[in-house]
This record gives sequence, C-alpha cells and structure tokens, in this order.
Amino acid sequence: MGEAIAAHRDGRLDAAEALYGKVLQRQSGHPDALHFLGVLCHQRKRSEDGIRLVRLALRATPRHADAHNNLGNIHKECGELAEAEACYRRALSHQPGHHDALSNLALVLDVQGRVDEAGEVYARFLAQEPQLGQAHYLMGMFRRRHVNEIEDVEEAARCFANACRLDPQNVRARDALGVALYMLGRSSEAVEVYRDWMARDPGNPVPRHMLAACGGEPAPARAADDYVRKVFDGFAASFDEMLLKNLHYRAPQVLVAALVDRLGIPQASLDVLDAGCGTGLCGPLIGPHARNLVGVDLSGGMLEKARQRGDYDELVEAELAGWLQTRPSAWDVVLSADTLNYFGDLLPVLSAAGNALREGGWLAFTLEVLDGDEDRVELSASGRYRHSRACIERVLEDAGFSDPSITVDSLRKELGKPVRGWVVLVQKRGTGD
Ligand SMILES: C[S@@+](CC[C@H](N)C(=O)[O-])C[C@H]1O[C@@H](n2cnc3c(N)ncnc32)[C@H](O)[C@@H]1O
Repeated sequence: MGEAIAAHRDGRLDAAEALYGKVLQRQSGHPDALHFLGVLCHQRKRSEDGIRLVRLALRATPRHADAHNNLGNIHKECGELAEAEACYRRALSHQPGHHDALSNLALVLDVQGRVDEAGEVYARFLAQEPQLGQAHYLMGMFRRRHVNEIEDVEEAARCFANACRLDPQNVRARDALGVALYMLGRSSEAVEVYRDWMARDPGNPVPRHMLAACGGEPAPARAADDYVRKVFDGFAASFDEMLLKNLHYRAPQVLVAALVDRLGIPQASLDVLDAGCGTGLCGPLIGPHARNLVGVDLSGGMLEKARQRGDYDELVEAELAGWLQTRPSAWDVVLSADTLNYFGDLLPVLSAAGNALREGGWLAFTLEVLDGDEDRVELSASGRYRHSRACIERVLEDAGFSDPSITVDSLRKELGKPVRGWVVLVQKRGTGD
C-alpha cells in the first residue's frame, strides 16, 4: 500500500493502479486500496468505476470521513451536486470538523444557489478554525461573490488580509486582497500588496501584471503570455474555481446568439475559429454552423478541458495574434468571447483576424465597456482591459473593417454588479463591396 500511495502521489498512475490491484488480489476487501483505486479511476475518467469502488470501501468502513468526502468530490466533478452534498454531510456527521468536507459542502450549496446555507457553512468553518488562513480566504471569496453593498467588499478585504497574515504563502489571498483594496479606492495599499508579492516571488508574472492594473507601473500593450498561461492554467486546474467563475458568466451565449442571427440556418458548412477558446464554452453553441471547428488558446490547462468536451475538430496551443497571421484567408468565422479584453492595443490582433478571414467572413468578439466619448483604453483592477466605443471603431477601421455592429450587454457579474460588454460583429468586405 505504501508503494502504491507514493506512486499515486507522484502522479505515476499506471504504477499506482497496478500496485492497488496487487493489494486487492491478496485481500479483495482492503478498504484503503478500494478507496484510493476509486479516486484513481475517477482521475482516469472512469468515474463510474471510481464511485463503485469507493462505495465498496465505505461498506467496510462506513465511518471513514475522508472516503465520504472523496466520494463527494467525484460526484461534484461529475456535476452530481445533490449526491455530492449528501456525501459531504455524511463525512461531517462522522467528523464534524473535517476541513475539506466543510469547504466542499459550502461550495456545492453556493453553486446550487443556496447562498444563505453556504454562508452558514463558511461561517461555521471560520468559527471552528479561526487560525486557519484558508478559512478566512474562502469566507472572503464567498463575500466577494455575493457583494450587495460596499461593506461586503470591506469585509472581504478584511478576510483576505487575515488570510495573508495567517498564511503568507497563500498567493490567491494576496491577489484577492489587492483587487479588493483597489475596488475600495485604496489603490496605494493595493500597489503595496503587489510590490510586496513581487519582492517575495520576483519571477511571478501575476503581481507584475496586477501592479500595472493598479496603476503602480505603466500598462503593457497586452497581457503577457506567461501571465495569461499562469492565470488560466490555474483556473483550469481548480475545478471549483471554474464552477464558481462560470456562475453568472454569459459572454459565449450573448456573442453566439448575436452571431447566429447573421449566419442564418445552421448548415454545418463553415470553417470556424474560436479564438481564445478557453474550456470550450462556445463550442456547442456554434457547432451546428461549423464544418470544421478549431480552438486556439495560450493555456494548455484550458485546452485540456475543451478537449474533454469533444466539440472541436482541432485545438491549438498558441498565442492568438501571432498564430492568426500564419493562417491567411482560412476562416468563414472568427469568434472570440471574453478574450480580446486581455489585449490593450487591439490593432495587431484585429489586423491578423482580418487577414485570416475570407471575404464575406464574420469577425465576432466581446470587450468590456469603458464609458465616455473619447478614444481610450484602460487596464482595470480585474487585470482585463476596457475599451471605449471610439477606440474600437478606430482600430477596426485601421484594421480594414467597416460598418461594425456594436451593442452592449451584460457579460458577467463582478462584485455584485453586471459587467457591461461590447458585442461586436463585423464582416470582411470583398474588394468589390
Ligand atoms: C476568460 S477566458 C474565455 C474563454 C472562452 N472564450 C469562454 O468564453 O469561455 C479567456 C481565454 O483567453 C485566452 N487568452 C488570453 N490572451 C490570449 C492570447 N494572447 N492568445 C491566446 N489565448 C489567449 C486565455 O488563455 C483564456 O483561456
């Protein structure tokens, strides 16, 4: 068992599976071997086997809180939230202070929209573990997700500050603290948070980018590749954050609905590029129009999630603007949901998109709204850029596009408020048009 667990921890899954198998040959009901082999099967996308094995383990050791919690995790990651909730509650009935079961229970309640119950569980976790940075961090994130008034942001900032004090290694808490301080108008404190983080971890692109977002350094022309990879690989690796991030997220739906109005009846006849495809949320929406659907993204972690969905003919790990330049006249549609807001200067990427489209092809993208009549772009505290309408119109013209349709819709909720976005559609005109 020791060797099997060590192999499992190191990610040597073939070896671990073989060793658990050997243990079970000698003792078919070995509860730990059944339990861990179940977790491993789920990791290898054999979740039904995983659930069956952990249940067998629990028959032998029905009071094993870790096994109930892990069974809950498998259900949660299969989208079976009610089953997951029941497992976490069973874990807590046997071990009321089980950290993971408490935070997992709060999460599945939150994702099911049972916000008050989720808040009670986060509060219970915090009351039980006041010295645990993670308990403060999770409470802060909960407050931030459900902001109603400015006091909630202040409370979230207090939670993040406690989390950083109790656990200086918690980089997510540091990031969240910087954003909350900036939101509260305490930008010099936010700058301090990012400078301190940079001093502790000089190679990390996140504090570098966020320092610029808080006005502590000049903004780069676009988010650096290493920043984008780090942030999105991190999201993709954390299933829970993905779940929560997508709670009020609707850029793919809004963008594709506007686009398909122009495309007419789906005939599976178009070559479509999903530019910055992320986990592939646009794939199933645009799929009926596509004869060939390709996704491109910088983040290998996000692409892996898109691959698992199975909607794309091809997925490419590359920087968007550079890659588009190498594909002249290849696409009938280039769509990009919530991705060009990682570009401050839009000209290189929109020119490349113009080059990559065929005559008559459609370019469709979202950006975040910067109010005002002037031609302006701003890197905001979220780490994303916001563009004014005049800026988008000018860059589209410089990139060779004319007559864009630019409408406003809500793309997501942040700090309790809708984030307004531009939904931009423009067609590449032929030389005779
Ligand atoms: C917020 S996600 C949106 C993903 C997807 N379009 C959706 O709506 O769900 C932004 C994506 O853009 C990608 N991205 C940002 N800048 C990029 C660049 N320069 N080249 C390629 N991908 C980029 C990120 O890796 C991330 O997956």
